[in-house]
Amino acid sequence: MEGENVSEDPNSSVQRLVQFTDPHIGGRPDYQLLGLDTGHTLDEVLRVIASEQGSAEMLVVTGDVSANGSEAAYRRFLHKMRGVGTPWYWLPGNHDNAARMRQMAPSRNAEVVSLGNWRLLLLDTSVENQICGGLSEGQLQRLEQLLQECREYPVMVMMHHQPVPVGSDWIDGHMLREGRERLMQLVGAAPNVKAMVWGHVHQQFDSHYRHIGLHATPSTSVQFTPGSGPFAVDEQMPGYRWFELRDDGSYSTGVERVVVSEYRVDLASGGY
Ligand SMILES: [Fe+2]
Repeated sequence: MEGENVSEDPNSSVQRLVQFTDPHIGGRPDYQLLGLDTGHTLDEVLRVIASEQGSAEMLVVTGDVSANGSEAAYRRFLHKMRGVGTPWYWLPGNHDNAARMRQMAPSRNAEVVSLGNWRLLLLDTSVENQICGGLSEGQLQRLEQLLQECREYPVMVMMHHQPVPVGSDWIDGHMLREGRERLMQLVGAAPNVKAMVWGHVHQQFDSHYRHIGLHATPSTSVQFTPGSGPFAVDEQMPGYRWFELRDDGSYSTGVERVVVSEYRVDLASGGY
């Protein structure tokens, strides 16, 4: 087993990374998304991460931190994260206000994060007043530069929007648009890019593009039904994803679901 070999090698280390995504926190404690108390579900997921992933070196939140980009929502989120001792970063989604996130918690924003031998590249795919995502020419040029600078290291690219369809028509209508092909060209040409990881789709997805692992992660709040044509809310519980990143660029990953007490969501909802 690869993992056993790694643990026997004193010169090799394993870094544990946890991703959680799409908390959709409102500004008020009584905020609900499709009838679901998203503050409560985030609390429960954070509690389980603390107990199951206590050895994690880092957490990354991949967007839709807030329901509406309000200052009050971010204040509420930051309050919930106060007890988290693990270093953590966030990046914006379509429901966020990227400028406000940078302003309210500058140290939680980063372009490149070092984690052992790995480099995490955090992209901002949010586009003002749009649900779908995009990367400008300037962002793509910057990414090309960063990939060049990080060429000696295994790289994980993290973002909010899916850069490939996940097989659910309605949410694939809101995927990464502008710059998508160029992004895939850039990462496809970089053998050290090992994984692309995102949120937005509120469901688990695992696939490959050339040499790159592709992973989407359940939301900490409402779940969307995999493979659904129209909008559909799924009965599955919220969750998060863990990674074990090894020095040689290999990794393991998995999704853990969190059984939330008093989980009530409007399954018949036609949209959000
Ligand atoms: Fe979302």
